[in-house]
Amino acid sequence: MEEMINHLKTQGFVFQGSEIYGGLANSWDYGPLGAEIKTKLKAEWWNYFVKKNPMNIGLDSSIILNSKVWKASGHIDGFNDPLIDCKKCGSRWRADKLIEEFDETVISGAMTNLEMEDYIKEHQIKCSKCGETNFTNIRKFALMFKTNQGVLEDESSAVFLRPETAQGIFINFKNSQRSLRKKLPFGIGQIGKSFRNEITPGNFIFRTREFEQMELEFFYNPNDGENWFEYWMEKVETFLTEKIQIDKKNYRIRKHENDELAHYSNQTSDIEFKFPFGWGELWGIADRGNFDLNAHQSSSGQDLTYLDPLSNQKILANVIEPSVGVERMMLAIMWQAYTVEQLEANNSRVVMKLPYSLVPYQVAIMPLQKQLIEPAKQLFEKLLVNFDATYDETGNVGKRYRRQDAIGTPFVITYDFDSLDDNKVTLRNRDSMLQERIEISQIEEYLKQKLKQ
Ligand code: GAP
Repeated sequence: MEEMINHLKTQGFVFQGSEIYGGLANSWDYGPLGAEIKTKLKAEWWNYFVKKNPMNIGLDSSIILNSKVWKASGHIDGFNDPLIDCKKCGSRWRADKLIEEFDETVISGAMTNLEMEDYIKEHQIKCSKCGETNFTNIRKFALMFKTNQGVLEDESSAVFLRPETAQGIFINFKNSQRSLRKKLPFGIGQIGKSFRNEITPGNFIFRTREFEQMELEFFYNPNDGENWFEYWMEKVETFLTEKIQIDKKNYRIRKHENDELAHYSNQTSDIEFKFPFGWGELWGIADRGNFDLNAHQSSSGQDLTYLDPLSNQKILANVIEPSVGVERMMLAIMWQAYTVEQLEANNSRVVMKLPYSLVPYQVAIMPLQKQLIEPAKQLFEKLLVNFDATYDETGNVGKRYRRQDAIGTPFVITYDFDSLDDNKVTLRNRDSMLQERIEISQIEEYLKQKLKQ
């Protein structure tokens, strides 16, 4: 992975956060190319799960909500990690992760804190840093970032940065349903930043304290007899394989055991991806029942029911929630795309084999020689109207091809001396490296067709 991280940095995909000040632990900034991929990925998700699904609508709620929201949702009381310190070197660990690393068959989510303490002692689990087996007792470590709103810095002004976008959807369920006159079933999608003061962030952009989520809360009538969980599992898989071309061999589905389910969930399945450090959760699909609407109805005193036109009964909607992190999906996409290809003797190239739907640039235009800069630039500006195009005139042609391979540009057009006479250019394909001559007047149509694939 180090090799890929280096590549992503030098090519302008991902930079270390606050780098000129020595960095900030586990924070990453997205460079010009990373920002393009992120924007396209979010647009793909929004299109598929919100705009093009006839049942669904979108939302953009606040990051800071009334603290009563987090009390009702169970986050203030229950959203914490079991923290344990090594008595020798002081390293801090998540007790459940220490146990799972020690024995992969154990599901630590099913254990109480006391049981975890006993397990660690009994099995003499070692501190991964110094090898010590002596640990402190487990303390609950709150995962929400706390701050103050306004001038007073006391408990009365305490607010939290949201740890998930989902609650902003639940508290706007009634507003959204009424204003858009929606009938069940319907979903509300949202993309936005979430914050968790993770004890053990890491593995590059896999787990960070600031990240973005793409969440859909799909509300349905519990009596409608449909299997909406299966429906959304299928949609998630279709999105992965068709919209962003994740290879089936790179992911698997893992159903949660009953004793590891989150407090709000009746059933959950994770899509796990084969990351460079092993299988890890990419996308969680949870059946939340009516846990959240029920909690907010009780706490706020507001009626969050829906009048079922068939039975004329007031019901609380059930919820299926597919929830995925933008950066985690970026890591999956970039890791799958990162390819080092051996060419002829002692020669290799790095290619980002990104799906066409997510590439920072769809086409690059380059003049073969300095004298051809003018017509090449004219062609570039023409293509820029309808395509994500870039222009490169520095270095020899071979180097320029490699540069475009390294950032994933699927097509490179070279304007040469013959172009002046025959009105044709050479078009090179990123993956096959094959070149063909094409009429300049045909380029737009050609690219349109090819980029659909
Ligand atoms: N609303 C449900 C929820 O937030 P979650 O399993 O805690 O469920 C959903 O998070 C997804 O958000 C995860 O599958 C992962 O893709 C992403 N995610 C969660 N914590 C993250 C973190 N610290 N860094 C990056 N992505 C994270």
